[in-house]
Amino acid sequence: MAIKEEQHKPTSDIYILGIESSCDDTSASVIKNGVLLSNVTAGQAVHERYGGVVPELASRAHQQNIIPVVHEAMREAGIAKSDLSAVAFTRGPGLLGSLLVGASFAKGFAQSLNLPLIDVNHLQAHVLAHFISQGKPDEQMPEFPFLCLLVSGGNSQIILVRSYHDMEIIGQTIDDAAGEAFDKCAKVMGLPYPGGPHVDRLAQSGNPSAFRFAKPQIKDYNYSFSGLKTSFLYLLRDKVKENPDFIAENKADLCASLQETVVDILMKKLKLAAKDLNVRQVAVAGGVSANSGLRKALVETGKKYGWKVFIPPVSFTTDNAAMIAITGYFKYLNHDFCGLGEVPYARINYTF
Ligand code: KG4
Repeated sequence: MAIKEEQHKPTSDIYILGIESSCDDTSASVIKNGVLLSNVTAGQAVHERYGGVVPELASRAHQQNIIPVVHEAMREAGIAKSDLSAVAFTRGPGLLGSLLVGASFAKGFAQSLNLPLIDVNHLQAHVLAHFISQGKPDEQMPEFPFLCLLVSGGNSQIILVRSYHDMEIIGQTIDDAAGEAFDKCAKVMGLPYPGGPHVDRLAQSGNPSAFRFAKPQIKDYNYSFSGLKTSFLYLLRDKVKENPDFIAENKADLCASLQETVVDILMKKLKLAAKDLNVRQVAVAGGVSANSGLRKALVETGKKYGWKVFIPPVSFTTDNAAMIAITGYFKYLNHDFCGLGEVPYARINYTF
């Protein structure tokens, strides 16, 4: 079905088109006054056989996907291009080639419709995903200040969120991200990429105390997962020497023990930060927040320490444009627009 073409009609409603292309998901979403109208994502199966995202292939796939995905998001939202108030796009951090596709499209689209452009920090968007309304009556959203544990394939951070526009990374990984640790250990066990969901599934039937792996001793609220990865690798190497079927015979226990260790590392620093800062509202974001062990630990720890815990639907935890659109909405209300000259950035901004 074609997108409705209408003359621009002045309205007080705010419609934001969000575009996300930072890694291997091409996504577009429309949000009206903070309420989700559509969220369409095209994944990229092309990377599966390589065991990780291949940047050049990712940007080519974004080029193929971006127009159909935006078209579908507008169609599902049931609005015309002339209804839009602004276009928001992920500026970074992420893969530069991937970001360039979304940013260039957003600039061209906004320019052709004479719409304001809003650049969005991908990490800020993960946090603000907690404020996407689906128009349901009993929706609960965090109150400021709150802590957000952002855990994905590329990030492991504790963020102190003071307002929609004022956030600070107070702790982060000094090497691998939590999702990376899951994925790399899964790869050693011969599980498909990304391995995190497979580890989670296998862990359900395993014994979390069967094996012990290294836990980091680092300062402040920072994380490290490279030691865990190495100790996992060494255990497997030594055990497979004794018994070539070791991995197959112990897969569930290995997954359960790995998951227990990752969750324990994540929770330890989160508890410390909540205690030191006297914050009792705790949220989680990013792909790893789908992990059942982490969700359980958050709920149980929340009960124990009197936290109010916020765990978003899985569709808002992985990379998606709804979180870009909601961030764009808050920036729109703040009159925070950008020019056509803003270029994507690959690395983290520490405050946003
Ligand atoms: O936020 P996200 O979708 O995008 C990237 O950062 O790329 O996160 C993807 C990460 C992957 O490392 C994946 O293995 C992990 O999230 N992940 C999980 C689970 N679901 C996704 N890790 C553990 N348990 C899960 N259930």
